[in-house]
Amino acid sequence: MDYKKLVAERIAEKIELPLEKIEELIEIPPKAEMGDFAFPCFQLAKVLRKAPNMIAVDLKESINKDGFERVENIGSYLNFFVDKAVFTKETIEKIITEGEKYGSSEIGKGKNIVIEYSSPNIAKPFHVGHLFSTSIGNSLYKIMSFQGYNCVRINHLGDWGTQFGKLISAYKRWVDEEALEKEPIKELLRIYVKFHDEAEKDPSLEEEGRMHFKKLEEGSEEEVKLWKRFRDLSLKEFQKVYKMLNVKFDYFTGESFYSDKMDAVVEEIDKKGLLTESNGAKVVMLDKYNMPPCIIKKSDGATIYATRDLAAAIYRKNTYDFYKSIYVVGLEQSLHFKQVFTTLKLMGYQWADDCKHVGFGLVRFADRKLSTRKGEVIFLEDLLNESIEKATEIINEKNSDLENKEEVAKKIGIGAVIFTYLKNNREKDIVFSWNEMLSFDGETGPYVQYSYARGKSVLRKLGTATGDVDYSKLSSKEEFELVKTLEGFNNAILYSIDKLEPSIVTRYVIDVAKNFNKFYNQYSVMNAEDEETKKARLKLVEATCQVLKNGLSLLGIEVVEKM
Ligand code: ARG
Repeated sequence: MDYKKLVAERIAEKIELPLEKIEELIEIPPKAEMGDFAFPCFQLAKVLRKAPNMIAVDLKESINKDGFERVENIGSYLNFFVDKAVFTKETIEKIITEGEKYGSSEIGKGKNIVIEYSSPNIAKPFHVGHLFSTSIGNSLYKIMSFQGYNCVRINHLGDWGTQFGKLISAYKRWVDEEALEKEPIKELLRIYVKFHDEAEKDPSLEEEGRMHFKKLEEGSEEEVKLWKRFRDLSLKEFQKVYKMLNVKFDYFTGESFYSDKMDAVVEEIDKKGLLTESNGAKVVMLDKYNMPPCIIKKSDGATIYATRDLAAAIYRKNTYDFYKSIYVVGLEQSLHFKQVFTTLKLMGYQWADDCKHVGFGLVRFADRKLSTRKGEVIFLEDLLNESIEKATEIINEKNSDLENKEEVAKKIGIGAVIFTYLKNNREKDIVFSWNEMLSFDGETGPYVQYSYARGKSVLRKLGTATGDVDYSKLSSKEEFELVKTLEGFNNAILYSIDKLEPSIVTRYVIDVAKNFNKFYNQYSVMNAEDEETKKARLKLVEATCQVLKNGLSLLGIEVVEKM
């Protein structure tokens, strides 16, 4: 039962306000003593020409109280105390019946969402920032699909641009074929860095690089072949990471995909009278919007990043007729996206307002020095493997004869990394600390996974409860707090969609785990006062496990049955 709705309906029977308006006004009181829902009467004072506290008193007398333990008034508020046994029964039974679907809805039905995330650059390492994008994007995808939206997942690979001319040049001069096959990205990065070092001494190299890119754009066989090879080798490496993370895409339509779609866009911009010459380059002026110009073509005639994004946005609208088009990209590109979206708007595309840049902060490491020297970067695969290794050590300490240790360590190690990314408001910077993120008792992935495993172990030992259950047995404050939290899952999800913020689901999952542990540490299931209480508690444990599992899965994290 949707209690908030019920409260609103009861109020609507008594006063003339639209149901939605009433629902908006309803608050969740800060303290349990003040009930489960509160309705402030201030706004009614004018209309009813009565003091708000008097309105509250009148409403309290006349309102239909079915389904509520009691209704009171505190000052100018009308406070509703739900019938705990009914609320508990409805909540737990709903969770258990709906199972993996609990928390889902159909609000997104018939709406297409394009969601672009990860988007690493080929021939370059997949770095910690790309993992930020990958985690957020994957989670938003899951969260939105869970609410019925039809989501298209796009990986906008950085696989086009003048740098590939340079790379071809570098390849022809310095490549070590054996190294390229063995560790492609490391080798491509090495020769790319070398190119820059050498070009400082011999500027003619730059010219050579430009020539190769020009030939690549013209479709010259040799260049295309090399570029394809760099792309394939890189993708193979990226796929390893995606496999570890269990992240998928519908399309790998990267920047190169738009190489033949840009002329038309440039022409369109020109026709709409938006193209201006500036220092030899072709730009769209945005000074009216307090922004530097959006560069469409460089002085050498080459198109750039922004041009490809304009082409991509239009392509996505035409192909997927999106309701929203989401770009999960670091905050340092905020200006770029503002320029692109504003240019689209100037081109007459009102749907530019449906394009959303979902930005995120920077990533640092607390217990590792991160050298910024050219070419020295943390490879994500190494980072994930390190996390798995550390998780293995912890398991060996805590529970060395656990079955399938390897698989458990993987889920814990990778889960811990993802959880760290999704724990706080995405715009905040992240400071990675191994000790913190792998701890079993902070606000961490392992802590939530451990809570789940604890619950599962009770259910294994005692079996799930069957037959009629007397939910009034769950009468303690801790038990009811947990039930209330479980009931709020869908609300948390909707809020996280509204803010495009997976951390709202992460915080929610942490709350469930915390409230579960409060209950579990204080009340015994096995040695409950009587059989009926034991049964009711078992149901509560079962429902909690289900919600933890559903919640973690929306973050892209798997549960473990034992740890
Ligand atoms: N490849 C870019 C990078 O690594 C991210 C691409 C962002 N997406 C876009 N549509 N511009 O920084």
